[in-house]
Amino acid sequence: MDDIPAFSRMRLGILASHGGSNMQAIIDATHQGVLAAEAVVVIGNNAGSMAASRAAAEGIPFHHLSGRTHPEFAELDAEICRVLADAGVDLVVLAGYMKKVGPKTIDRFPRRILNIHPALLPRFGGVGMYGIHVHEAVLAAGDKVTGVTVHLVDQEYDRGPIVARCEVGVNEGDDAPALAARVLEREHAFYVETLCKIASGELDLDTLS
Ligand code: GRF
Repeated sequence: MDDIPAFSRMRLGILASHGGSNMQAIIDATHQGVLAAEAVVVIGNNAGSMAASRAAAEGIPFHHLSGRTHPEFAELDAEICRVLADAGVDLVVLAGYMKKVGPKTIDRFPRRILNIHPALLPRFGGVGMYGIHVHEAVLAAGDKVTGVTVHLVDQEYDRGPIVARCEVGVNEGDDAPALAARVLEREHAFYVETLCKIASGELDLDTLS
């Protein structure tokens, strides 16, 4: 389906490190006409990642930018910023991006960088809270409910203003991989739903606190 005029589509720049399943869900939603957006560039710190292969399969330019290509963090930040700006990106979408976004990129895209986190922030966020560790911590805490958070990115991990959250129940007998799989499945739909609300203006990134 392709009946959304190109001029009204948000131009997305996606940053992804590994699996890229959230990225794929977003791209699929753009192709299906569910999301009025277009993924115009993908940046990853891992050239051999699934995210890189998915970008190639979709015909979306992929840029490997990392500490290998740019040993100085400030230079890496400047290059990421340049690639996003040159691609005319409106919104930067972190989808399993495991690195910090630098100050130049944050300043160039104020309140226009989103991240998804597999828990209900501010619980289970911050340094060390990534991947399976998040779900292990949820289970260790005995929480009955976890979820998904989409938030704006600032210079602290998982700290920026919350854009949207949704709950996912913790089931009796869940182990961390089972919980991780259920949360990830919810992430796919929820990231798309949240982006749709941003695209339609129902969610205003400039007025979040
Ligand atoms: C997701 O759980 C996301 O919340 C976290 O990293 C994971 C990425 O998964 N930030 P994928 O690469 O989208 O498959």
